[in-house]
Amino acid sequence: MLHDPNRIYIFDTTLRDGEQVPGCQLTTSEKIEIAKELEILGVDVIEAGFPISSPGDFQSVVELSKAVKDPIICALTRANTKDIDAAVESLKHAKRPRIHTGIGASDMHIKYKFNSTREDILERGVAAVKYAKKFVEDIEFYAEDAGRADVVFLAQMIEAVIAAGATVVNIPDTNGYCLPDQYGSKIRFLKENVKNIDQAIISVHCHNDLGLATANSIAGIQNGARQVECTINGIGERAGNTSLEEVAMILKTHQLGYYTNINSKKFYELSGMVSRMMRMPVQPNKAIVGKNAFAHSSGIHQDGVLKFRENYEIINPEDVGIDQSEIILTARSGRHALKHHLERLGYVIEKINLDEVYERFLVLADSKKEIKDDDLLLLMGDGTERN
Ligand code: KIV
Ligand code: ZN
Repeated sequence: MLHDPNRIYIFDTTLRDGEQVPGCQLTTSEKIEIAKELEILGVDVIEAGFPISSPGDFQSVVELSKAVKDPIICALTRANTKDIDAAVESLKHAKRPRIHTGIGASDMHIKYKFNSTREDILERGVAAVKYAKKFVEDIEFYAEDAGRADVVFLAQMIEAVIAAGATVVNIPDTNGYCLPDQYGSKIRFLKENVKNIDQAIISVHCHNDLGLATANSIAGIQNGARQVECTINGIGERAGNTSLEEVAMILKTHQLGYYTNINSKKFYELSGMVSRMMRMPVQPNKAIVGKNAFAHSSGIHQDGVLKFRENYEIINPEDVGIDQSEIILTARSGRHALKHHLERLGYVIEKINLDEVYERFLVLADSKKEIKDDDLLLLMGDGTERN
């Protein structure tokens, strides 16, 4: 199939890799609610679950397949017929089903997880793809722990699974080990050395153990990957997966020439929904969707942003579904921020001795973490003229 070389496909695994996190389990109806929002967001693929893992997960894939029509619905399996049979059955209502099968590719996994050999593992991977292909056209193969795998063996494996019918090849940095240039080079090597690579899409699936999941995913794209596996809020195993909102906003902000189908204005709302349902708070300083992502608290930054938003904001908050950035009043704020809030509350600045109010504001601010509207009203007293 011909693909636009600049189109980046977004594969959301919030409901599979994200939902594996202890305490984040969802009911089927919660998963459906999130999946419908992911559909509106514009993701291309929803990984709905790992059907063999439990009857509940199996049923969720069945129900999501019925409820969601536009994105591809994907089910995870290991490289064995039992897992694949369960996935095929769970996807029977999906308009666009995909099976995501695979096996470990690093020598560590081959030896210590499978107690096997490269030759045997390669054969098992190929057999799984061929078996799944009998039932479903769209087969994604994952080479688990590819980040630590020998690149020549990885290339051999990828070539063999594409020849067996894989339409997408996933190169996971399962343990979040790689540096961006290492991961990018691995993708480039596959692009340049796997003979049939143009018959498949290369997918990146990065974990965040060293805080590099997003950087590695972008490096993968810049070296030839065209699908990114990610989750809302970067939720996922251990330190998490690549954050969907970060990837989408990097591509948009840097105008690297790639585009996605994502409507970024949905990010803030969806982030809150996933956080609430999964009982997983979003850290305040989380890029794009954290509470402080568009909050300015130091006087220098507040003055700069009030003069010209772009001085201290590289993203328009409206683009991610946040009405406006916040100017937080603290003891680090300057006169400009105080004036901004007083005007917002309707005070006529020309009729105020701003220096005198500012002195009193600082005394109050030193005794509190943050100055809210009520504090300002008290500070100004009843007699001060307002519009
Ligand atoms: O991190 C990983 O390798 C995975 C695979 C199952 C795709 O989640
Ligand atoms: Zn993963």
